[in-house]
Amino acid sequence: MTKSFSQAAALARKAARDPHAAALALYRTLNADWPRLALGGPDAAEAWTQARDELRALGLLARFEHELRAAFAPLAGQEIRGKRVVAGGVKPGHAEMLWAVVRRRRPQLVVETGVCNGLSSAIILEALAANGSGRLVSLDLAEFCDPALNDIEVWEGKGGAVIPAGKAVGWLVPDHRRAGWRLELGRAQDRLAPLLAELGPVDVFIHDSEHSYDNQLFEFREGFAALAPGGLLIATDINWSNAFDDFWAAAARKAGARRAFVDHSCALVAKP
Ligand SMILES: C[S@@+](CC[C@H](N)C(=O)[O-])C[C@H]1O[C@@H](n2cnc3c(N)ncnc32)[C@H](O)[C@@H]1O
Repeated sequence: MTKSFSQAAALARKAARDPHAAALALYRTLNADWPRLALGGPDAAEAWTQARDELRALGLLARFEHELRAAFAPLAGQEIRGKRVVAGGVKPGHAEMLWAVVRRRRPQLVVETGVCNGLSSAIILEALAANGSGRLVSLDLAEFCDPALNDIEVWEGKGGAVIPAGKAVGWLVPDHRRAGWRLELGRAQDRLAPLLAELGPVDVFIHDSEHSYDNQLFEFREGFAALAPGGLLIATDINWSNAFDDFWAAAARKAGARRAFVDHSCALVAKP
């Protein structure tokens, strides 16, 4: 069996198990017109291609992914809480989208939840550095590969995203990019609202922490409320719960926001 045939067969089995989720994923994939929403203007598609080419030419994503692979190679086959240990970084396509959003929109304040090894943080900080202005504030409740280092309670649905032995939260961020970065450690449920109140209007807010229904709904609401007019919410892993659809129907659409999908698992919402 070829790889694409076996992938298609796996998708078909998944769709038979949960037709509603499959239809939703298809709808989102077919409406993946995010550059028009997030990069704006008639040249949005060209801006997306240019930004992606720029990141590829710099080789930054390839370098960070190489570092992640090297750090996780010795952990192959290991488990934590019965889950396979993974690096948990954003998908390559999402990292490229983050780069394009920051390069094109030139935000002065970006806030993200979910840092782990720091792939998204490193990409955002590199993009801000290329812009020559802007800062990133990140919030994370880290889980380490070595269980002796964990004194936190994690959501039972959490996967195996961890930090390897000898590394710190966000270790992928190069030292020379740390000046514009504030890293806060703690539970989003406890720390996000006071942090946003302290920071004031946010240009781009990214959720990539705990993907439980309650926390996703909480972060989408808080992050959207904290956005400056015209600001952008980036919601990852929306396929983990119904929180995004509930947030959209009950809050964002009523507020006159616009939305677009990057793929079945990621959505963007622009505040009016
Ligand atoms: C998917 S990883 C983030 C990946 C990161 N954005 C990247 O691209 O490398 C999710 C992170 O959120 C953390 N986390 C889990 N529950 C959390 C919570 N309730 N509050 C804050 N962070 C949480 C996890 O421990 C992990 O470090």
